[in-house]
Amino acid sequence: MYRSEFYVFDQDKPVPVIIRNYTEADFDQLIQIQSECFPPPFPSDLWWNKEQLSNHVGRFPEGAICIEVNGVLAGSLTGLCVEFDPNHMEHTWEEITDRGYITNHNPSGDTLYIVDISVRPKYRKLGLGKLMMHAMYHVVIQNKLVRLLGGGRMPGYHRVAATMKPDEYLKEVITGQLKDPVISFLLRCGRVPIGIVENYLDDEESCNYAALMEWKNPFNPI
Ligand SMILES: CC(C)(COP(=O)(O)OP(=O)(O)OC[C@H]1O[C@@H](n2cnc3c(N)ncnc32)[C@H](O)[C@@H]1OP(=O)(O)O)[C@@H](O)C(=O)NCCC(=O)NCCS
Repeated sequence: MYRSEFYVFDQDKPVPVIIRNYTEADFDQLIQIQSECFPPPFPSDLWWNKEQLSNHVGRFPEGAICIEVNGVLAGSLTGLCVEFDPNHMEHTWEEITDRGYITNHNPSGDTLYIVDISVRPKYRKLGLGKLMMHAMYHVVIQNKLVRLLGGGRMPGYHRVAATMKPDEYLKEVITGQLKDPVISFLLRCGRVPIGIVENYLDDEESCNYAALMEWKNPFNPI
């Protein structure tokens, strides 16, 4: 299991943090975090429920991590393992995560797939999301997987959707002409876009598009 204790810096002030696996005792706070991270127009029925969270800790506990700041839960990151064929990239979030219930978790799958990452608004831009992502890279390495993968929402896309195709938008974000709250974050985490999927998630701000973003295990190159 995973547990790491260290400091992050809030301006110049060191603040103690812990990254660890979440357990049933954290469920109420995790649902609260989701409500803060995915406000309307995001559909509230896509927030975690306790059955989904029980499946995360029961089926793939290594993929269920959270971050505590000064003893307060500030965010979480959840994954499952799937067998991924890069020649067949099309999928929806519902299919690949079984609607967040991860009953399709495949212990011998080659890919750690991210179901969700959320950091409470009050704790953003402290590096917590990136630290959790790196913790999940450790899991990829430890389990000798080929890659970490996930569909990145592109919540800034709706602002330019009338004049720009999603792949043009992604290109502008990659070249630094535009910034996207999620895609720019994922790029800074070391994730690399490998394609765009449509109808990925019921997500008005992203016009239901997502960028598939990969991190390859450097010890297991194929
Ligand atoms: C996306 C999210 C998890 C980022 O969490 P965070 O803890 O604030 O991110 P970090 O502080 O670790 O940021 C890491 C890097 O990304 C950059 N970044 C973070 N948020 C960003 C934003 N909104 N726009 C541009 N860059 C951003 C940071 O500047 C930082 O850069 P650096 O490493 O070069 O210093 C958080 O904003 C969130 O919970 N969003 C809502 C939920 C969501 O949409 N999740 C994604 C589902 S696909």
